[in-house]
This record gives sequence, C-alpha cells and structure tokens, in this order.
Amino acid sequence: MLKNATLAALAALTFTSGAYAAGGDGKTVDYDFSYEGPFGTYDENQLQRGLQVYTQVCSACHGLKFVPMRTLADEGGPHLPEEQMKAYVDQFLISDEAANMHLYDPEEDELRALAPTDNFPANNAAGAPDLSLMAKARAGFHGPYGTGINQLMNGIGGAEYIASLLTGYTGEEKEEAGTILYENTAFPGGWISMGPPLYGDDVEFADGTEATIEQQSKDVAAFLRWTAEPHQNSRKQTGFIAVFFLIVLTALLYLTNKRLWKKVKD
Ligand code: HEC
Repeated sequence: MLKNATLAALAALTFTSGAYAAGGDGKTVDYDFSYEGPFGTYDENQLQRGLQVYTQVCSACHGLKFVPMRTLADEGGPHLPEEQMKAYVDQFLISDEAANMHLYDPEEDELRALAPTDNFPANNAAGAPDLSLMAKARAGFHGPYGTGINQLMNGIGGAEYIASLLTGYTGEEKEEAGTILYENTAFPGGWISMGPPLYGDDVEFADGTEATIEQQSKDVAAFLRWTAEPHQNSRKQTGFIAVFFLIVLTALLYLTNKRLWKKVKD
C-alpha cells in the first residue's frame, strides 16, 4: 500500500515536471534522436549532415579543440571514407584562417599544415565557447524539484538543449551595455548574445534532406553529441556482451550448484 502511494507520488512528480522545465530556466523540446534507448546507435548520415552544418556555419565562431579530426573516419561516428576525411583536413590548407592555424613544427623549424592526427581548430570568435563537450556540459532536462527523475526518464538532454537553442529564437532583440542580445526560449535567462545562426537552407545536404532550421539544428546537435560521447555505440555493444556472459555464467553456476548439492539433498 505504502509502495503504491510512493509510486503514485513519483508518477505525479514526473508528469508535472514538464511545467517545471518550462519555467524560468529555458524550455527544452524533447526531440527524438536515433541514439536514444538501450539499443539506439548514432545515425551516420545524420552525423555527416551535422558535420556539414558545423563546418559551414558554426565553425566561423566555435572551435572543437578536443576532437581529433581523424575520428571522423571512425566506425560509430560520421564514418567518412578515409579519403574524404583526409580531404576534410586538407581544406584547412586553403582558407585564410587556416594559414594562421598552421602549427609550428620545432623539428623542421617551420610551420606545418594540419594533419588528420591534429584536433579540429580552436576558435572563440566573439567569445563563442568551444563545442567539443557542450552536449555534456548542458542539461536539457531538470527536476522535478531537484530529484533528477526527469533526467532518469529522458536522459540529460544536452543535444535536445542544443537543438532547442538553435530553434528557440523568437526574433526579439535588445541592446544592453553595447551588446545585442537575442531572445531565446531555450537559453536560461531568455537572452543570448549569439545571433540566430540558422535561417533555413544554410547548407545543401548531399543526401537530399531538406535543410530546414529544425533539421539542421537536430543534425548538428546529434553531431555535437557524438563529439562529446564518441564511443557510445561500442560501449553499448560491450555492455550487451557483458550482460549476455553474465546470464550464461548465472545459468552454469545454477546447474553446478544443483549438481554439487544433489547427493546431500536426495
Ligand atoms: C557569429 C558567431 C557564432 C556562430 C556562427 C555560432 N555561434 Fe554559437 N555562440 C556564439 C556566442 C558569442 C556564444 C555565447 C553566447 C552567450 O553566452 O550569450 C555562443 C554560444 C553557443 C552555445 C552555448 C549556449 C549556452 O548554453 O551557453 C551553443 C550550444 C552554441 N553557441 C551552438 C552553436 C551552433 C550549433 C552553431 C552553428 C549552427 C553556432 N553556435 C553558431 C557565437 C556564434
């Protein structure tokens, strides 16, 4: 009886949490992602589209300084063919900013170009934070009342928060102490200094996916979730193998136990 009452109370808390999340600290839309749930894996095509959005739009201000560029070819990630990954790295040779990013090679005593083993360039133009771990640094879901039940049910919601941030502009702006602030329904406090980066059709996807604001937002959010959590696919796989072995082991131990005690019990 007591247990039922507790469960009912928990359920009530969970259902009211939506209203709590919509309160003063920003509203996160619970977008669906392919990697969710125990069997979910990253969608390669989505990660590739997200990489494209990051490269063509976000990288103008944001860096990914903790992410090695060679991992773009990894299985369980965007999984670019080796050649495409190298071509991606090579493109940094031709832009002007890239010329500034060439690294100093003490052995050759001269500048060297970026190699696949290098990380993505760092960038914090206009004070933009590095995005490598952003999907882990932000929680989209909270509460209710500090219990964390919402996160237990929906996950931390970092990617959902990023996608909500990009789709959350209301179009209102104001100037405060010389800085223009843009109203955003997902950003805690409601006003962010990042202007709306996406307007729709900002990129042209090779796979024919329509580049709406929401589509681009979800794709880049999934990509940033991968940069923050690059080994999720193989981790889940290892987990399942481990659980499978434990089940087999349990069965064997059970049978052994029966056999050992058989004489005593008979
Ligand atoms: C013109 C420069 C610029 C571009 C382009 C840009 N951003 Fe930003 N971004 C900023 C700045 C500046 C901030 C810091 C805003 C603040 O704290 O008020 C920021 C903050 C953020 C944050 C952190 C918000 C938080 O909770 O603190 C995320 C996530 C983000 N940007 C994602 C993106 C993504 C994804 C793209 C590409 C679709 C992008 N940005 C494009 C300048 C930019």
